This record gives sequence, C-alpha cells and structure tokens, in this order.
Amino acid sequence: MNKVRNSIILATLTFVPLIINLILHRRYRRLKKALKCQEKFYYNVIFINMRNVDCKQHLISRKECGNSCSYVQLQKILHFVSSAKVSICVCMYMLTLKQFSQELIKAHKRGVKIRVILDLIMANADAAQYNISKFIQNDIIYKHQVPEYSMMHHKFCLIDKEDSSLAKMFFGSMNLTGQAMVYNFETVILTNNSHVIQRYSDEFEDLWNYF
Ligand SMILES: *[C@@H]1O[C@H](CO)[C@@H](O)[C@H](O)[C@H]1NC(C)=O
Ligand SMILES: *[C@@H]1O[C@H](CO)[C@@H](O)[C@H](O)[C@H]1NC(C)=O
Ligand SMILES: [Zn+2]
Repeated sequence: MNKVRNSIILATLTFVPLIINLILHRRYRRLKKALKCQEKFYYNVIFINMRNVDCKQHLISRKECGNSCSYVQLQKILHFVSSAKVSICVCMYMLTLKQFSQELIKAHKRGVKIRVILDLIMANADAAQYNISKFIQNDIIYKHQVPEYSMMHHKFCLIDKEDSSLAKMFFGSMNLTGQAMVYNFETVILTNNSHVIQRYSDEFEDLWNYF
C-alpha cells in the first residue's frame, strides 16, 4: 500500500511541475510573440525648426546640409510617395509643394489611385493654382470641404492602405508648402503602425463620402 502511495507522490512531484513548466513556457512564448508584434512598426519623427532657416537654398540647389536639413526630410516624404503601389490618399490643409504634386502625378501615371482632399479656401489660393491645374490636367480627383466657414485643417497622407504589408502614412502639423519646410516650426511622423493607419483610413473614407 505504502509503495503505491509513494509512487503516486513521486509521480505527482515529477509531473505536476513539468506540466506547470510547460504551461508557463507556452504563455511565455505567446507573450514574447505578442511583444514582438508590437515592436514591428517604425516611427520616423521629423522636426522642422530654427536649424532649417538656411535650408531654402538647399531646397533649391538640392544640396544637403546635415541630418536635419529640410531637403533630406523632404526626400524622406517624397520617397514615401514615390514608393506607392496601390493608392495615395492625401488630406492636406494647404498643398503648394511642387515636388509633392509632381510625385502624385508620377504615381497617378503608373496606375496608383490618387485621392486628394484640400481646404476650400486654400485650394482657391493663388499659390495653389499651379498644382490644382496640374491635378485637373492629369485627371487626379480632388475634393474640398463643403461649408465655406469651416477649415479642412488636417495634414496627413495614407499610402497603400489597402495592402497591410505595404500600408504606411505620415501626419503632423505641416502643410506641404515650401514655407513650412524652411521657415516654420513643424513636425511630421512617418509610420507603418496599422492601428493608426486604420483610424486615419476610416476618417479619410468618411470625409471623402461627406465632401
Ligand atoms: C513596419 O516596418 C517594420 C520595419 O521596417 C517592419 O519590420 C514591419 O514588418 C512593418 N510592419 C507592417 C505591419 O508592415
Ligand atoms: C500652414 O498651415 C497653417 C495652419 O495650420 C496656416 O496658418 C498657414 O498659413 C499654412 N501655410 C503655410 C505656408 O505654412
Ligand atoms: Zn539644409
């Protein structure tokens, strides 16, 4: 009888810790996986500040003057756009940056679906006319908000939001204007965080349907 009891105790002492260990190990692996999932987004934070006042020349001459150079930052933003394969959704208070409009037109020509939402007043501003007329010439659809007294104050751009492996976006304080790149204090965040992209994507579709 004692022998049986001892065996049961021995078995319990051996297997229970083993099972617990196995459960904990599985949990740990799942936790590790979850943490890894959270890590796999990139965030590129750009600031335009007092260090960029001299960059006007660099924007024109296309020479870089360091890591915070407006020209370098602009290239990052333009590269985002030039890498688009499926779609580009722009929602921008003011868009007068020639290079950006040109990238949109290039993307449009290679079959990327472009949609642009602008501010009503800013879309009619003189500075924007060149770009707007280019959009019209190239059949790029753009809209602006309905009520004249409100501001379409957003500054964001979604790239390839339909494809989760490609989707990315940027958002921040910055209008896409030459002035914002060299004179203002601004920030732009480039990211592929799918949660943020989803929220902005829903908002863009809402606005697109509303305007
Ligand atoms: C986001 O970018 C990182 C770094 O390039 C990459 O490892 C990750 O797979 C990307 N995530 C998504 C959801 O595309
Ligand atoms: C940019 O946006 C702000 C509002 O966010 C606006 O007041 C400003 O006039 C715009 N234009 C330029 C050139 O920065
Ligand atoms: Zn510079």
